[in-house]
Amino acid sequence: MLLLILLVVVGAFALGALLGAPYLPIMRRETRGLLALAELKPGQTLIDLGSGDGRLLRAAAAQDIRCIGYEINPFLVLISRIVCWRYRRLITIHLANFWHVKLPPADIIYVFLIDRYMARLDRKLTAELTQPTRVISFVFAIPGRTPARHNANTYIYEYEAARTRKA
Ligand SMILES: C[S@@+](CC[C@H](N)C(=O)[O-])C[C@H]1O[C@@H](n2cnc3c(N)ncnc32)[C@H](O)[C@@H]1O
Repeated sequence: MLLLILLVVVGAFALGALLGAPYLPIMRRETRGLLALAELKPGQTLIDLGSGDGRLLRAAAAQDIRCIGYEINPFLVLISRIVCWRYRRLITIHLANFWHVKLPPADIIYVFLIDRYMARLDRKLTAELTQPTRVISFVFAIPGRTPARHNANTYIYEYEAARTRKA
């Protein structure tokens, strides 16, 4: 029984590692610099693709940002819903594989993935965004895109809406 529980837990964490990035949360002190660079405004909506334990969502909600997280690991979804409870009016966390989610409109999309998924992410954003969206990538740059701003570990990109490009 213990072995089964262990396998389920390990499997949940392995799934995230296989489909986007292993669970390696952003450090709390780094969230401050990232949010400052992103110039978020109260009332805006932020999506975290692979929201982990919800710490970036919480830091953004503390600035009155509406937040949507997608997380594939059910244990992390449970933990993040608990720790984000205080901001439940601002934060929604979905148990989902974000590659299969049709992205809702948002002002900002935040990701902390790994290098090998950045090109796939770019294709998804390019195809699906319905409004101009600021995309923030922690650690890894998006290949073929010039960031509007960046610092040592954060890249900020301005994506236009798919509709605009086709017109
Ligand atoms: C490097 S962690 C980043 C966590 C959080 N965004 C942060 O910055 O602290 C990546 C997270 O993405 C999740 N993840 C990876 N692939 C995913 C997918 N396809 N759909 C949903 N979540 C995914 C992992 O389970 C993990 O929690």
